[in-house]
Amino acid sequence: MAKSIAVAGKGGSGKSILAALLVHNLCKRGMGPVLAIDADPDSNLGTLLGIEPAKTIGDLREEVLKEMKNLPAGVPKASYVETGLHEIIEESEGFDLITMGRGEGAGCYCSLNNMIRKFSQDLTPSYSWVVIDNEAGLEHISRRTTQYIDSLIVVINDNPLSFHSAQKIEALTDDMQGRIRKRYMVTNMIRDEKRDAVLRRLSGLRFEHICDIPYDIKLEEAVYEDKPVSSLTEALILTYIDQIIDRIGGENGTA
Ligand SMILES: Nc1ncnc2c1ncn2[C@@H]1O[C@H](COP(=O)(O)OP(=O)(O)OP(=O)(O)O)[C@@H](O)[C@H]1O
Ligand SMILES: [Mg+2]
Repeated sequence: MAKSIAVAGKGGSGKSILAALLVHNLCKRGMGPVLAIDADPDSNLGTLLGIEPAKTIGDLREEVLKEMKNLPAGVPKASYVETGLHEIIEESEGFDLITMGRGEGAGCYCSLNNMIRKFSQDLTPSYSWVVIDNEAGLEHISRRTTQYIDSLIVVINDNPLSFHSAQKIEALTDDMQGRIRKRYMVTNMIRDEKRDAVLRRLSGLRFEHICDIPYDIKLEEAVYEDKPVSSLTEALILTYIDQIIDRIGGENGTA
């Protein structure tokens, strides 16, 4: 069964970068195949991984709702949806990517959403790891669309609101009774003068602190130039990504 890692935290804290680097590192270590899921409606995991997704699950949902009434007799809705879902998986070297796109909208499309959920669940056993880049809010986690998470990583920077986000995630996941196996935190881009104060605050949280990732100019330049994370061969941040996979993989008995 695939091991899952979900990355969460305040907007701009570094979730997508971290998720992309984790996917890349797992592939590089030969720990794939990896399924990368971009669960942020403002999708950018594909860009960081060097893929431009042609279609999102949100696009498919819209398309199905439009086409449903025009389906020829005898074509079951489920098989139409399943064909569409297969088209959504973008294949790359060592990993596949699914982009969720826009949310489920105001209407109740329960049967369609259930089909999509079931498809994602059926898909995961074909992978060794699933890495989920979440949106800044907690909607994805709180709506419980994520069934089971082995490792939740909360990214925290030195914006005080980032600490409040982490507190909310802690409270929310306290209620999730065993559906999240391990909770970790990673600090990112903490300025030296803020470090002591930030670490003091974080000591009250019940997340295991894996590492403190410094600001990395090479990383910022690569993102600015729209380069995928695979182009970062000598960046400082790679050592920290190794530490995260060693820790999480080790606790899952796979690294
Ligand atoms: N350690 C780092 N060193 C340098 N730049 C970084 C670092 N971590 C993140 N960044 C930069 O910070 C910005 C925000 O990162 P990212 O997009 O990963 O955050 P996010 O949490 O996914 O944001 P959002 O909530 O908007 O999706 C990016 O421009 C990224 O290049
Ligand atoms: Mg992001």
